[in-house]
Amino acid sequence: MKYYLDSAKIDEIREAYETFGIDGVTTNPNHIMNSGKPFLTVLGELKQFVEEKNIVGWDKFPISVEIDPHLDDVDQIVEMGSKIAGMCANFVIKIPCTQAGVAAARRLEKAGVRTNLTLVFSPSQALIAAKNGSLFVSPFVGWKESSGEDCKQYIADIVNIYKNYGYYGRTQIICAAIRTGKQIVDCAVSGADIVTAGLQVYKDSFYHPFTDYGIGKFCAAWDKTATK
Ligand code: E4P
Repeated sequence: MKYYLDSAKIDEIREAYETFGIDGVTTNPNHIMNSGKPFLTVLGELKQFVEEKNIVGWDKFPISVEIDPHLDDVDQIVEMGSKIAGMCANFVIKIPCTQAGVAAARRLEKAGVRTNLTLVFSPSQALIAAKNGSLFVSPFVGWKESSGEDCKQYIADIVNIYKNYGYYGRTQIICAAIRTGKQIVDCAVSGADIVTAGLQVYKDSFYHPFTDYGIGKFCAAWDKTATK
């Protein structure tokens, strides 16, 4: 199971990479806005980061970059996607899973630009992304569960469909908008390839109060025991 950081803040990306070895990054216009920096400045920082860490290439450390979401013309999506992909070998072009988005992703993939079809909320959307050769598909778990849906079966259905048709592993499933450790586990049990979440979600998922309780208990025992 791969862990991607859902962020455009270079300090957070650095911390997550150095402390628990994240495998990639996903961004979206919201994350770029929250970084407080211009779009191209953030892309420059990301490029610098992969060069510094010697992880250049989408196969080593993919960074999904969502292009202008206003674009609904296939030619324009392809043009902007090709331009952004040309800036750094790690950039994977993230495009909404609409009719134009699917057509553009198909053309980009044929031209060697890797894509991530995002804003996916149904197995039938995930199926069309795989059928057209996208590297990634991003079913949003957190948003659906906020609305009262349980996503364990939703992700398992996508996994099974991909297995039925040989897409499993070829189009990798990034479970997106992950909010809790429970959702990470559900996605892992369902067979997803990747989860993407914010830094605090991962930190919370490593934490368990019984671990702290156990440390206290064992420290007390240690202190009452001769160690030489
Ligand atoms: C996925 O790739 C998206 O960037 C992300 O998970 C969107 O959700 P959020 O910003 O609400 O967490």
